[in-house]
Amino acid sequence: MNNSFDFSPIVNDELSNEIAKEREHIGFYDLCDQDVSGYLALAQEVKQQNIVIIGIGGSALGASAVYRFLDLVDSFDKKLHILDTTDPLILQSKLKSFDMQDAYYALISKSGNTVETIAVAKYIDAEISLGRDNCVVITDNGSALEKFADSRSIKHFAIDDNVGGRFSVLSAAGLVPLALVGVNIVELLSGAATVRDSFFNEKGYCHSLMQKATFYAQHANTYNINCLFSYSEVFREFNAWYVQLWGESLGKKQRHSELHVGLTPVGLIGPTDQHSFLQLIVDGKRDKSVTVIKIKNFDNLMRIPESSFKHLEAMDIINGYTFSELINMQADSMMEALGSLDNIPLDIIEIESVNASEIGQLILYYELLTALVANMLDINAYDQPGVEMGKIILKEKLKGK
Ligand code: PA5
Repeated sequence: MNNSFDFSPIVNDELSNEIAKEREHIGFYDLCDQDVSGYLALAQEVKQQNIVIIGIGGSALGASAVYRFLDLVDSFDKKLHILDTTDPLILQSKLKSFDMQDAYYALISKSGNTVETIAVAKYIDAEISLGRDNCVVITDNGSALEKFADSRSIKHFAIDDNVGGRFSVLSAAGLVPLALVGVNIVELLSGAATVRDSFFNEKGYCHSLMQKATFYAQHANTYNINCLFSYSEVFREFNAWYVQLWGESLGKKQRHSELHVGLTPVGLIGPTDQHSFLQLIVDGKRDKSVTVIKIKNFDNLMRIPESSFKHLEAMDIINGYTFSELINMQADSMMEALGSLDNIPLDIIEIESVNASEIGQLILYYELLTALVANMLDINAYDQPGVEMGKIILKEKLKGK
């Protein structure tokens, strides 16, 4: 992947030292180096055709983003299903969409006591009984969920204490279900490692990422909405992951003041959202930055036929183009339009092709960017008091029945 932009704020080089210090105690930076043999061994053992994640937020979105990105190209033999809701209509419909007996369940919760996750697990357990042959648990060391797993001899993997939920896609939380479905997790991690290593070892790369972060932080009051305009459906779940990462990490009270700060993420898909949200970007309030993500090589030759529709001969200009050329021309046209307007900061991320290494790179790139912006905004990227507040109130309400 490659990111180009022309923001050039003056960067405080101290920022990279802060991140180097943070790396000593925050876990996501070094997940790329972990031993994945245990996950791969489990993947060899599991024969079920349906892999089902029971989890929510950071315990589901990362795996979902990677799977959706790769699924259309890699055509995995096994299917990944994600139960991350308490909506009875969608739950029932999802549970009907696969054979519950021919399924292997990844019960994922860092805290081990998230209401949504345990509610769904109880439902499934009542239907098919969760045990060592159809379930793996991924949770914090010593959590109540880990003890539950032990009580049924269910295999479990730990999420390190210093890896937060929304930063956990490259931990067991994301890697185990992805390995079960057949994703090349070694390639995923090695892609992530190239970005991590470039950041820590290459001055130019590090400076460029710090420039982008500095721009966002310095303009947090003006351009406080950051749109990710991704030109392919394969990014739909990645956009959702980005919304969680950016929103839950960057919406906080400052460490050294009571000031509420935050950057608002918006995930858009091209070309669909060219026919909706784009109007707001072009003519609406100048409070948005836009990052376009494009795939250089779709490796797909589907082409618009050389045909002519009566009365629509003017549309023959599209004839002969491949759809991948068309979607990228749409992205370029949108960028040209936005580039000609004032006060819409714009940058582009180009992905070489759809593979595990590229999505690994993109994930680590956004995690680093989030860490950098948080540092500059003087906030803790790794807690979520607002989310916890909702969880506590819900538990109190549930006790009152
Ligand atoms: O990023 C976070 O910390 C949250 O979004 C959590 O991932 C989410 O609340 C689910 O929590 P848990 O994994 O503890 O079930």
